[in-house]
Amino acid sequence: MEIFVDSADPDEVRRVVALGWVDGVTTNPTLLARAGRGLRAAVAEIAALVRGPVSAEVLAAETEGMVHEGRTLAAISPNVVVKVPLTAAGLRAVEILAAEGIATNVTLCFSPVQALLAAKAGATYVSPFVGRLDDAGHDGMAVVAEILDIYRRYEFSTRVLVASVRHTDHVRRAALLGAHAATVPPKVLDGLCRHPMTDAGLARFAADAAAAGLSADT
Ligand code: E4P
Repeated sequence: MEIFVDSADPDEVRRVVALGWVDGVTTNPTLLARAGRGLRAAVAEIAALVRGPVSAEVLAAETEGMVHEGRTLAAISPNVVVKVPLTAAGLRAVEILAAEGIATNVTLCFSPVQALLAAKAGATYVSPFVGRLDDAGHDGMAVVAEILDIYRRYEFSTRVLVASVRHTDHVRRAALLGAHAATVPPKVLDGLCRHPMTDAGLARFAADAAAAGLSADT
């Protein structure tokens, strides 16, 4: 499963990419506004930091504007994936961009039927927002399971990118379901390689090694 970082802050992205196991980046207008560097500048900087996909979202609401912005964003770097909202206008924009060979990530997906339409439109990725579904009292991961089931039945090539991740367990369940990717906020991402028993075990090994005067050189 690909692991992406959900951030539009180039400094943050640089830091987590250095970990070595981050495969790509997703941004959104809220994250870009928070980063305060402008959309194009931030996307260009981030795209140069990582070899994998970097999702950058269109701002227009109508198909024509989305297609225009999508072409502009895709021209920033070959690894930019154009993020398009799951609306009727967005799905039409995805069809047009896909026909031009531009990779797309259909965002703000909240139902399996929406995801079916994204796949039919030729999306490269679809992003179900599990955290926001959970927040609203639904089961976000159950929606992901249904999307994956539908995609397998019809052999769609659209990749399921689990988004709006809130905690490590979302990542665990995404991997168990066979989701293609998950995008994770930096704070959650930092916790993925941690376990209290790892820390306790390490402290014990260090104490025992020090007590015995062990050294890797002797
Ligand atoms: C994904 O592409 C979105 O940017 C993101 O995961 C949304 O997460 P949020 O619900 O925490 O804002």
